[in-house]
Amino acid sequence: MDLAQLVNAAGADIAAVESPEQLEAFRIKYLGVKGLLKQASDHIKNVPADQRRAYGQSLNSAKQNITEAFQQRKLALDAQPAAVSGVDVTEPGQVRCDPYRPGALHIIQENIDDLIELFARMGFSVAEGPELEDEFHNFEALNVPADHPARHPLDNFYIDAPAGDLPLMLRSQTSNVQIRVLESQKPPVRIIAPGRVYRPDTVDATHSFMFHQLEGLYVDRHVTLVDLKTCIDLFARSFFGESVRTRFRPSFFPFTEPSAEFDVQFTHSSGSSRWVELGGCGMVDPNVLQAVGVDPQVYSGFAFGLGIERIVMRRHGIADIRDLFQNDVRFLRQFI
Ligand code: DAH
Repeated sequence: MDLAQLVNAAGADIAAVESPEQLEAFRIKYLGVKGLLKQASDHIKNVPADQRRAYGQSLNSAKQNITEAFQQRKLALDAQPAAVSGVDVTEPGQVRCDPYRPGALHIIQENIDDLIELFARMGFSVAEGPELEDEFHNFEALNVPADHPARHPLDNFYIDAPAGDLPLMLRSQTSNVQIRVLESQKPPVRIIAPGRVYRPDTVDATHSFMFHQLEGLYVDRHVTLVDLKTCIDLFARSFFGESVRTRFRPSFFPFTEPSAEFDVQFTHSSGSSRWVELGGCGMVDPNVLQAVGVDPQVYSGFAFGLGIERIVMRRHGIADIRDLFQNDVRFLRQFI
């Protein structure tokens, strides 16, 4: 048997192998126990003695050659995905989700962080108070008497307390932090308090039973309304852009005197402009200072409170507050 011919034939055969079945047929034909190599090996006894050595060497290299060709083809076939009928396995995969997409802060938290940084530049530090609060801190000490309509059971989440315990509620405003801070800290006090508040409002595009407020409080000697206006104006221009204007409208809150609501004027690229109410503010009522043992003859202060969702929606052009809390990542990812 001509070994060179055998190697050539095997080379041609292996090149035509395209499936595991064909590969197995090749193996049986050349490498099997009754295969051509075995036959060539059996043939050695018919080779004249003086040529046996050379024949043996050629046989070894033929074996090696064919075995290697077989193994390489096998590796290549194993690496190919199994063909599934009707599926083009060479088509690029569909990107359903990117497993390497890093996590990110929620848009509300992003904005709270911006606000914290912004007010820190004006000397405000961050304070916190409980979301589960008593009526003293949420209302009483803030000069909101028991018969005030804001304390109505239908407008607040009161919590059934065990008999004898102080009645509790989910805070309806972050103003409770004003009291918490002044109870534990002597003026000068300059804090902001971002946090959740709760009201049993019917949910719609602009209302939610839970939302976030940012409270501000500055108490020191000689704090005036001018300081308040400057602070609000600086905040609005840093947050929304230098071109926005602010205005105060007289209002009433039990814990401030005088009180105002503040609006920001946004100008559309078309030239039209619109005033949007952002929050309430005023000079801290002397009754509030007295309730926490601060002498109103010596100290004065200003306070303000704004709705965080409202300014986030304004800033990012979000029309429906529910989008902020449904936590659909396709929505939230837009703001990363
Ligand atoms: N707490 C008020 C609210 O929830 C907002 C507010 C108004 C806060 C005036 C203040 C303030 O600190 O001075 O409607």
